[in-house]
Amino acid sequence: MKIVHAASELFPYIKTGGLADAVGALTGALADKGHEVSVFLPGYRVAREHADAARAELKLRLKIEMGDQFMSGEAWAFSPRKNLTVYLICRDEFYDRRAPYGNGERDFEDNADRFIFFSKAVVETMRLADLQADIVHAHDWQAALIPLLVRESERRHGATLALKTVFTIHNIAYQGLFPAATFARTNLPEELNNIDGIEYYAQISLLKGGILFADRVTTVSPRYAQEIQTPEFGCGLDGVIQTRVDDLSGLINGVDDAVWNPAIDKLLPARYSASDLKGKALCRTALLKAAGFDPMFKGAIYGMVCRLAEQKGIDLLLANQAFFLEREVKLIVLGSGDKRMENELRALAAQAPEKVFLCARLDEAMSHLIEAGSDFFVMPSLFEPCGLNQLYSQIYGTVPIVSRVGGLVDTVIDADKAPNFGTGLMAEPTVAGLLDALRRAQRLYGDAPRYAAVQQCAMAKDFSWKIAALAYEKLYLDAL
Ligand code: ADP
Ligand code: GLC
Repeated sequence: MKIVHAASELFPYIKTGGLADAVGALTGALADKGHEVSVFLPGYRVAREHADAARAELKLRLKIEMGDQFMSGEAWAFSPRKNLTVYLICRDEFYDRRAPYGNGERDFEDNADRFIFFSKAVVETMRLADLQADIVHAHDWQAALIPLLVRESERRHGATLALKTVFTIHNIAYQGLFPAATFARTNLPEELNNIDGIEYYAQISLLKGGILFADRVTTVSPRYAQEIQTPEFGCGLDGVIQTRVDDLSGLINGVDDAVWNPAIDKLLPARYSASDLKGKALCRTALLKAAGFDPMFKGAIYGMVCRLAEQKGIDLLLANQAFFLEREVKLIVLGSGDKRMENELRALAAQAPEKVFLCARLDEAMSHLIEAGSDFFVMPSLFEPCGLNQLYSQIYGTVPIVSRVGGLVDTVIDADKAPNFGTGLMAEPTVAGLLDALRRAQRLYGDAPRYAAVQQCAMAKDFSWKIAALAYEKLYLDAL
């Protein structure tokens, strides 16, 4: 199949969260299966500075209609592996910045223009370069207008650009909501500026466009596909989702085992496998050292890696700080984002520097070291579309403690409920629920044979993209 993907993140060129890992690994896996895959990405500064991009060739100069003006841009392309072409949509005014979405304090004011321009440029490049896709697959709000823009361009130009369109919701909490006046920038027919189109409570919602107008809608776990049909998890779009249930599915993300694999992980000080965990002990020592703790420490190490955002349950963790302060344990957190959460974590670390360590930055190597060197991985999310870190921690033999929500339910088995094949511990997404799971974790850690059994069950799981990519292949064929 000829498959075109469009997303605002792609590992290893730009990453702020799991979207980058998921799209990077899926497109790579599809290319390895012999499909002809193109991936479109905004030409952010960091992406253009990546070594691969030095080989990029200018494919097209673009003139994109944005309301009543035309804006110029360029499409550059390079091929990082067989069957895979990465297109960077460039326009320095929009993408030559230090970060993809905002300045750290708030989102860029021109994000509507930046991502509407990106979406239009993807469609225009497909048309001018005659890409003739079987499937166009767009991800999250930044690319959500693409299914609609594909059909609009086909209507205007009397040409077929794609046989079917697929839209994946990686997180329904991020919707691309903009003032009503933004609608003019889309140049879509006025009849789409209403409740059956992309209008949403006197604003426009780009995400709604993807949900309503793609041929197939997916999200990243079966459980989340159910949850987003309810007011509790639908973030106001549950009614819209309900109109698409016949075309909605939940496909679990996989793990790129060239990147997340303790047997070959070059970011670790030592490598290991389920049959020989000596390397894990070395990673544990290195992690303790990196955090400034006694490298011989024998108690449990609780690790956490996440965006500091409400979703990730940082407040549940903070509400349970007494648990960490009162016991012989260590808490190591790698995370950046929300300043209030960062300050509270920093204050906790300052209060008990011998127990709590905060690393408040984006640090790929440190994220691998925490996955490998911790004894437990803490993920008390309030909601979680799929979640990748609980997959990584199982592969790395680090027992995950996760909330009973979304993709966490689909990928972790509670070891107290299923003593013979449990891979982690499940918590209710409440302060008391997390405390209960942390206490059970201490008991598990105190029972070395049982801890080792859970670790082995976790490491025996297969989360590779070979399986996940099959599910997408089937979805594409089904749609076609
Ligand atoms: P989400 O996409 O909601 O942030 P996921 O669990 O799907 O959550 O994926 C998060 C990804 O981002 C993981 O690969 C994780 O290691 C990475 N990550 C999150 N915060 C950091 C950080 N501060 N430094 C390095 N990697 C991080
Ligand atoms: C989103 C979700 C996360 C998911 C990731 C990749 O960022 O928050 O749960 O794993 O997308 O699909």
